[in-house]
Amino acid sequence: MGKYTVLLLGSGGRESALAWKMSQSPLLEKLYIAPGNGGTSQYGENVQLSPLDFDAIKTFVANNEVNLVVVGNEDPLVAGIYDYFKSDDTLAGIPVIGPSKSGARLEGSKDFAKEFMNRHGIPTAQHLSVDSNNIEEGFKFLEKNNPPYVLKADGLAAGKGVLIIPSLDEAKEQLKAMLDGMFGASSSKVVIEQFLSGIECSVFVLTDGNSYKILPVAKDYKRIGEGDTGLNTGGMGAISPVSFADDSFMEKVENRIIKPTVEGLKKENITYKGFIFFGLINVEGEPYVIEYNVRMGDPETEVVMPRIKSDLLDLLEGVASGTLESRTLEIDPRYAVTVMMVSAGYPGSYEKGKAIAGLDKVENSIIFHAGTKMTENGNLVTSGGRVMAVSSYGDTKDKALKQSFENIEKINFEGKYFRHDIGFDLK
Ligand code: AMP
Ligand code: GLY
Repeated sequence: MGKYTVLLLGSGGRESALAWKMSQSPLLEKLYIAPGNGGTSQYGENVQLSPLDFDAIKTFVANNEVNLVVVGNEDPLVAGIYDYFKSDDTLAGIPVIGPSKSGARLEGSKDFAKEFMNRHGIPTAQHLSVDSNNIEEGFKFLEKNNPPYVLKADGLAAGKGVLIIPSLDEAKEQLKAMLDGMFGASSSKVVIEQFLSGIECSVFVLTDGNSYKILPVAKDYKRIGEGDTGLNTGGMGAISPVSFADDSFMEKVENRIIKPTVEGLKKENITYKGFIFFGLINVEGEPYVIEYNVRMGDPETEVVMPRIKSDLLDLLEGVASGTLESRTLEIDPRYAVTVMMVSAGYPGSYEKGKAIAGLDKVENSIIFHAGTKMTENGNLVTSGGRVMAVSSYGDTKDKALKQSFENIEKINFEGKYFRHDIGFDLK
């Protein structure tokens, strides 16, 4: 076992949680975060590099003796950072945690993901993929379905590419608008899906392409408003564990979804060494895949990392070297919860640059910065919609939530907003 100089790509709460966890590892020599945020500098050194500028990353890696790259967000993966490294003589030996470009299609193309699931018998909603050549077929598929209607842009659309529409006429109109470029090139193909009714949860797996470890299951609260109302956001809070994801449910998830996914990737010769995020829905006790992501979730990572007792770098070393099976994954039995503090106006437009006060008064919670930055004068200010996640442990969910809410009262910035009902009981 050597020591690791790690380059972590990304800038959100997820990357803060990954950086926090790696910074505790005895295997860590040095951590760089590109570009990071106003909080990640507690765990390592922020470097002003775009995760999509592969040439600049190459130079940085070479000049700083980086020997492990951990990719936090999906964009570089979908753009092929894994393949970029493997096809470069000087970079090929440096492990990248994440799938190859072909594996990243599980997130980068919803059509690919649906076809993959069908090929491997993985339960998911029925679908039809439509482009401008078969829009009439799309209309017929909608007519055969019942409301509400689910339309998804095939490509990445920054979490905004899914429409759930109550009426058939509007669904047809929106289908046309999507194909006409509502989400740019991302919606030149649209996946129409049968609507599934149930409760969602997020299951995360770390795989080296052969074996896998199942990380703690989490649930995020996606809507901006209390009672899960209003616009969709990146996520307003999360809890782990999830009451309905009990042993019997998770056994179904493992046998019907996780195993066939990892085996399916292998059968199709798709290199995948990283995190797989299964967005699942529980329909009367039966799990279905709503979506795959090829990275960890945000804010789920802010509860998943705190519940992992084992050394994350040891696990990632197992991924890189194909020896994950022999590594241990120990989980903290306590609850972990996180509550997101966001800027007024989010997920619409919001102001930035608001001074953040009170962090020094926080006790017994972990603050994971997301949209924050340090000004040249050393002042911490807001710089995004989701500003910071306040994570806490508890023997019960309520105790953990109480801790996060107490600390949120101590932190202030103009326009601060958060949901008071994160963790509310699931039906
Ligand atoms: P996605 O980006 O695919 O996760 O979709 C965003 C959200 O839309 C999901 O988290 C679900 O709440 C909802 N959704 C997506 N597909 C379906 C479906 N087939 N049935 C019901 N809800 C869905
Ligand atoms: N919290 C959902 C996501 O990261 O996509």
